[in-house]
Parts: sequence; C-alpha cells; structure tokens
Amino acid sequence: MKGIILAGGAGSRLYPVSKVYSKQLTLIYDKPLIYFPLSILMLSNIREILIISNEETIPLYKKLFDDGSDYGIRIEYALQTAPNGIAESFIIGEDFIGNDGATLILGDNIFYGNLDFIYKAMAKNDGATIFGYRVNDPERYGIVEFDDKGKAISIEEKPAKPRSNFAVPGLYVYDNEVVNIAKNIKPSPRGELEITDVNNVYLNKGKLSVEKIGRGVAWLDTGTPESLLQASNFFGVIEDRQGLKVACIEEIAFNKGFIDQKKFESVLSKIPKSLYKTYLEKILKEH
Ligand code: G1P
Repeated sequence: MKGIILAGGAGSRLYPVSKVYSKQLTLIYDKPLIYFPLSILMLSNIREILIISNEETIPLYKKLFDDGSDYGIRIEYALQTAPNGIAESFIIGEDFIGNDGATLILGDNIFYGNLDFIYKAMAKNDGATIFGYRVNDPERYGIVEFDDKGKAISIEEKPAKPRSNFAVPGLYVYDNEVVNIAKNIKPSPRGELEITDVNNVYLNKGKLSVEKIGRGVAWLDTGTPESLLQASNFFGVIEDRQGLKVACIEEIAFNKGFIDQKKFESVLSKIPKSLYKTYLEKILKEH
C-alpha cells in the first residue's frame, strides 16, 4: 500500500498568511499541520509516501522531511500545477503507485483517537473504503447517505440539502483501480476532478465500503483561524496532560522500529536545542 498526502491548495481562508505560506505548514500547537496526516500514514505502516503540492511549497516540504530516511520511510514529491481537484492525485501519482493500492490523506486532515478503523480498511485492499463522521455542518463536505441497514446509498459533494450528517473525511483507501477511475472522470462544474465522483464509481460497482467512525475519534478541520486555534488548544491540552506528543514523527519512527537507536540518536543530534529535542531525549531515555 502506497500513501499519498495532497498538500497544495491556496489556503485563502487564512489570508494574509496564505500570501507567503502554505496552510499545511502552519503550527498546530507545537508542530506543522502536515505532521498529523504524515503520522497517520506512518502509524498505518505505510512507508512509501508521495507528497503532492505546488511549486512554492515543495521545496519547503523537502527542507522539512528530505527523502524521509530520518524517519525510516521514503518520501517522494510531485507537483500539482493547478488546483484541479483531489482525484488528480492518482493521475499525478500513477507511476509512484505502480501496481499497489493507494491511501490518500488530505494534508489538512487531523485524526486523533483509536485508529483501528483505518488499520482494518487497509488490511482489505479490495475496492475502496471511505469513512463517515458525524458533523454539525454537513453542507461543507462530501456527504454520505445510509439506508436502514447502514449501507451507503449515495454520496454528494457539498450538497445544499444534505441527506445526512455524515461527512466523508479526507482519508481514502483504494485498490489499484483508482488510477483508471480517476483518469476517466470529468471535471465538475467547479472545474475539479472530484474525489466524490471517484467514490461514486466504486459505489455504483458495488465496491465501496463506508465505515462509520465512532464519536470517540476526533476528526478536526483546519481551514480557518478559529479551527486552527481549536486544534492547537485540543493538542496542547492532551500533550500537556500526558507529557506525550501527538504526531511526533521521530518518536513514531523509533517506536515502530522504522529506525534503530543509532539512527534515532543521529537524528536527535541534528535537532537544535528546543522543547522538541528535550522531548525526544526523554523518549530515548525511557526506551
Ligand atoms: C474535500 C472533499 C470533501 C471532503 C473534504 C474533507 O473538500 O471534496 O468531499 O468531505 O475534503 O476534508 P474540500 O477540501 O475540497 O472543501
């Protein structure tokens, strides 16, 4: 299974910072937003990851992660020249995906809590698995409708009259067919290759599973100043209470055995004096 993080986008709701800066690099409490989706892929044992972004931001991600070897993973980068839609990821990523399945996570999506629902979906690798998460503001998302038996019967992108409160989060698990499907859909009225159209192809073929995510999991949105502050507060509280960091990719790499102690120590030696370093030193000591 390959992983793709789509982390382009204008982020214009964060203007003026969006003039100079990508949304996925903004701080969520103590680390850049993109650490959160990256950590989800790593926790799911995905070690080959493609980051898709725009021309200005790719060099910044490269500076942040390089080729991923500090985290025991392989990171490649690819350009999306214009905001042509989420589904374009699979066309851009065709060579990278090769004959494998692909899990796509949007660079601004944060999940926190018991992640078994993701691991189960990845173990399948046949058809597509997407998720349904109850939200208060369904007009803003892809929305899935279920029948009485809990089977998904429709998915609509940002419907004016939502048929349910179940939004589809930006985490999608596909088999290799996704590449062909993405190549064959047409742009929507807003000019984008919609991920919802890809999901509808799977739905119509009877190959789509939609798993509801329980209320114990947090799926956080990060598009606006308020939601960024909420997410920062949320993780600030948890990290402070537990003395453990969320989405600390060096720690995850070490705990999962993607890197050994020697590598962890060498990564640590490159980090400047900071609270982040002190934390990693603690992790090493407790290991
Ligand atoms: C996109 C998808 C939408 C999904 C959402 C999750 O919306 O089109 O179906 O529910 O991500 O974050 P957009 O970010 O384009 O508004």
